[in-house]
Amino acid sequence: MYETSGLEGSAEEQDAEERRRAWRARREAMEAAPNGTKWSKHFRRTYHRGAHVAGRLIAPTRYGRRAAAKALRIGLTELSFEFPDLPPAFDGYTILQLTDLHLDNIEGTGHAAARRVAGIEADLCVITGDVRDNIRAPIGPVLDELAYVLSGVGVRDGVLGILGNHDSAAMVDPMEQLGVQMLLNETVTIARRGERIHITGTDDIHLFHTEEADQALAAAPRGFCIALVHSPEIAHHAAARHRLYLCGHTHGGQVCLPNGRPIITGLKRHRKYARGHWEHDGMTGYTCRGIGASLLPTRFNCEGEVVLITLRRGPHGGSHGGDD
Ligand SMILES: [Fe+2]
Repeated sequence: MYETSGLEGSAEEQDAEERRRAWRARREAMEAAPNGTKWSKHFRRTYHRGAHVAGRLIAPTRYGRRAAAKALRIGLTELSFEFPDLPPAFDGYTILQLTDLHLDNIEGTGHAAARRVAGIEADLCVITGDVRDNIRAPIGPVLDELAYVLSGVGVRDGVLGILGNHDSAAMVDPMEQLGVQMLLNETVTIARRGERIHITGTDDIHLFHTEEADQALAAAPRGFCIALVHSPEIAHHAAARHRLYLCGHTHGGQVCLPNGRPIITGLKRHRKYARGHWEHDGMTGYTCRGIGASLLPTRFNCEGEVVLITLRRGPHGGSHGGDD
């Protein structure tokens, strides 16, 4: 179970509340005026609007329906990662990663995701951002679908979440009411039989990058730490303190060449980490292709994915399973 520091009403807890208030004000200001130059914002806005319009025009056609049905095929990737320094009590610990659900983009995504995860049992579930597609749309219907998806999963230590670049600060409280503990540049500790692992989750760093996210990764406790970050773009900040980095954002490319190579990664750096398993300075990373589709309501040569990871204590490190 999670460990929390400090007692209810303690000065430490008041500091945490104050920090969250400051975080929310900063994030809301950034949502109103996103990062980037005038031209990059203009390009992004034009590209997003164009893709949305194209998607909406194609959706009712026969081709559109077939493309959407194809996008809703979601695979389960089972992996195990081996670490020589994993605390023995966590040998066999399982983590279900759900990412990039984009529940409000293609109708039926919630049903498809719920079918995919129904009956899966894991020690922990992590949601690594982009629960929704349209940051300005009403939150309620998306959260109802998320609750439906999570209702079929059996998790012993709960659900942790972070925000993606399509999510908003306004989603934090309702997601916590659903039972998802949101990590806003924060670390939680999970204890088992007197041993501990730590999990640091950051705010989205693709469009909403702040120094606070870098500092949270740099200040992670000594010991076995896992980073949850929406995109692989700050793997270099995490590698000093983290053994495993779980992310999404890229959708594995979403539209790929026949060999599965992404045409567009949506990454500003670390583009080679756009999908699957990678290693960076001794840290193991996994970029999940995610559940939903963004903007264009389809996927080509790039099936959706949920990931079930088993942590193993082993002498050499390395991974087993998966397709990368
Ligand atoms: Fe996404």
